Amino acid sequence: MSIQAIIFDAYGTLFDVYSIGALAERLFPGKGAAVAELWRDKQIEYTRLRTLSNTYKPFWEVTQDALVFCCRKLGLPLTLDAQTQLMGQYAKLQAFPENLGVLQSLKSEGLKLAILSNGNPEMLDAVVRAAGMDGLFTQVLSVHSVQKFKTAPEAYQLGPDMLGVAARDTLFVSSNGWDICGAAWFGFRTFWVNRSAAPLEELGVTPNGEGRTLDDVRRHVAQQA
Ligand code: LAC
Repeated sequence: MSIQAIIFDAYGTLFDVYSIGALAERLFPGKGAAVAELWRDKQIEYTRLRTLSNTYKPFWEVTQDALVFCCRKLGLPLTLDAQTQLMGQYAKLQAFPENLGVLQSLKSEGLKLAILSNGNPEMLDAVVRAAGMDGLFTQVLSVHSVQKFKTAPEAYQLGPDMLGVAARDTLFVSSNGWDICGAAWFGFRTFWVNRSAAPLEELGVTPNGEGRTLDDVRRHVAQQA
């Protein structure tokens, strides 16, 4: 059976989370890259801790908590103004340049496109709108409705439930190696947009496809048809 639906991760896959490094660099000269990286790592760590311990709270708040910790850890003074600017940037992250064209082309081929993200609905609405991606997706799915972050199976289950397409006929696309593992364990076909040429996670999962940009997703889908 060929692919009927494609589900995309949001942050890091469609939207460039490291673009906040430039703003962080202006606020904390010499430390922008470190802030961007530690902030992201802590954010994901907190999602896992909260899911493991059943202490869900929306991704926006988790992201804010991670920023506060990150600055404390790096010894950087986080004023309310800096916090507001950095969080504001998060709400309007840039999309990777090839994305819009690839999404439009995949949609024109009749595929159902969706986002499935840890982001809460308000965050996702804002970033999708800011990137001019309104109307491209059949569904923008947030784990908020199940109160568990990826890689909980309940989070991935939103895909088949809301799209009406079986996991084996759905391609899950993410730039995050850990997300690819979670999606593969759940039963999706997977494509890893390995934008940073990272090594494969040592978790016993090999993605069905791998590339560097969303253009490679388009090629992969064409090969599967
Ligand atoms: C997401 C993050 C984890 O969009 O990339 O779910």
